[in-house]
Amino acid sequence: MAEKAKFQAIKGVRDILPPESALWNRVEQAAREVFGTFGFAEIRLPILEHVELFARSIGEETDVVSKEMYRFEDYESPDLDAQRKTLSLRHPSVERPFEVRFFAHNVDVLTTMMEDGLKTGQIPKTPENRILVLELRSTFYDFSKTFAPPDYKGVQNRLDSYVKHFQETALAVMLGDQLTLRPEATASVVRAYIEHGMQVLPGNVKLYYMGPMFRRERPQKGRYRQFYQIGAEVLGSSDAPGIDAEVIEMLMRLFERLKLKGAVLSLNSIGDKNCRPAYVEKLRAELQKVREQLGADCQRRIETNPLRVLDSKLEHEQPIIEKLPRIAENLCADCRAHYDEVKRQLGLRGIAYKENWRLVRGLDYYMRTTFEITATGLGSQNAVCGGGRYDGLVELLGGPATTKGIGFAIGTDRLILSLQEAGEGAAPGGPAGKADGPDVYLAWFGAAAQVAAIGLARRLRDAGFVVELPAVEMKFGKSLGLADRLKALHAVIVGDDELAAGIVTVKRLSDGTQQKLSEQELFSYLGVV
Ligand code: HAM
Repeated sequence: MAEKAKFQAIKGVRDILPPESALWNRVEQAAREVFGTFGFAEIRLPILEHVELFARSIGEETDVVSKEMYRFEDYESPDLDAQRKTLSLRHPSVERPFEVRFFAHNVDVLTTMMEDGLKTGQIPKTPENRILVLELRSTFYDFSKTFAPPDYKGVQNRLDSYVKHFQETALAVMLGDQLTLRPEATASVVRAYIEHGMQVLPGNVKLYYMGPMFRRERPQKGRYRQFYQIGAEVLGSSDAPGIDAEVIEMLMRLFERLKLKGAVLSLNSIGDKNCRPAYVEKLRAELQKVREQLGADCQRRIETNPLRVLDSKLEHEQPIIEKLPRIAENLCADCRAHYDEVKRQLGLRGIAYKENWRLVRGLDYYMRTTFEITATGLGSQNAVCGGGRYDGLVELLGGPATTKGIGFAIGTDRLILSLQEAGEGAAPGGPAGKADGPDVYLAWFGAAAQVAAIGLARRLRDAGFVVELPAVEMKFGKSLGLADRLKALHAVIVGDDELAAGIVTVKRLSDGTQQKLSEQELFSYLGVV
């Protein structure tokens, strides 16, 4: 018999098990409490979104959009897809007329299915799809005239070019929406803000979220394909630097509360649409001069996104990058004033920061303030949080041009790793997060004792105690042995003798002391120990 396959979580994706999950809950709870005191409320967002949302927000040229998204076509018509895949496998020959006939039949059937699909809305009624389906039909008429039965003595290469054209056109038709697992959530928050008309709400809209994100990166310590973020965004008509500073203050309060070790805040301003384009051109011109000394990635970025060259970690590129023009010296007066005021506002809040002119961040929507926080114990993936201002994004996604935005996202996996490395992860990990094991292991012996134990367990649990109640009767020694292995604090024993006397026997498992108590005495005993 074939060996059964062992299932494993897929690459870059992991399970978070107890007791570590208790630390996750503690971190998430702290975030809810701290963010709540700053007036933030939770938004729960979908995990699936349109590809286009991220392509437009984050930018087509970024690694996240061009390489890392888990995307798929969400079609309602698997038969249509099967039909066009069949078509793309056929290579008819003029030497075999039945192949040409069969191919023509396939094209006709597929085109009719697509025409019907467009009418019923089974496939998206986009202008591109309409043109492609019309193209299929008109080429089919053309083809039918050229290769008319019963005479197929066309030229093979003529036939080949028709076949290729049909296959490519059919494949270009979008059979459904292009969807993706979200790689981040800022774009989703902005989508939701616009979709629900939140601009009419009074004051700034302050939202936080937590949950999984997906990027197809090369997995390593602190870098996963399914990872988690705790993020927050402020959307509103003001871009006052005090907002930037308060968002950062909120983050630092959370990290302080969690006792995160070695948190360092890096800060930069990357200008806006008035000053950045000129800076980027200046940078590009300088990069052209040193092109030959750069690696392949940076050479490509000279054309696609020169700012990303500043992100490079390659050793030999560092001295070259250090000599490049710096954005701080190229900001327009408004951006300079904004940046200076952000720094002053951070000072008012007693928040230390390090300026880092190379902090450009990997997503296109940022402008002006960008920041990142690193922590200890993480190796090369040491950014626990990244964020910044994105004033043009709401308008770019079709919302009011007056809405500005700023926010951040904490990489929860990395935050937890750093806490664990610093020993903060050794939090009590029992079922209720109080101790390693249950408060009470309720050992019962005999059918009547089970009935009493079920009732007692309910009353203990109602009072907040963690109770382990064996589902089946066990021998005394085995049952108490299990209580030990589960690291229970107490074994409460209910047998015939206890039932008859209206009491229970309580054994403290740390030292074996044993006493007989009434139920009322048991509650006060458990309450005080
Ligand atoms: P991001 O810098 O792409 O920004 O991600 C934020 C944080 O998520 C990173 O600093 C890191 O801690 C964590 N992270 C990113 N990728 C991975 C991964 N593959 N594995 C583990 N952790 C990861 C954003 O996502 C923006 N949406 C942040 C933002 C919010 N900006 C404004 N508002």
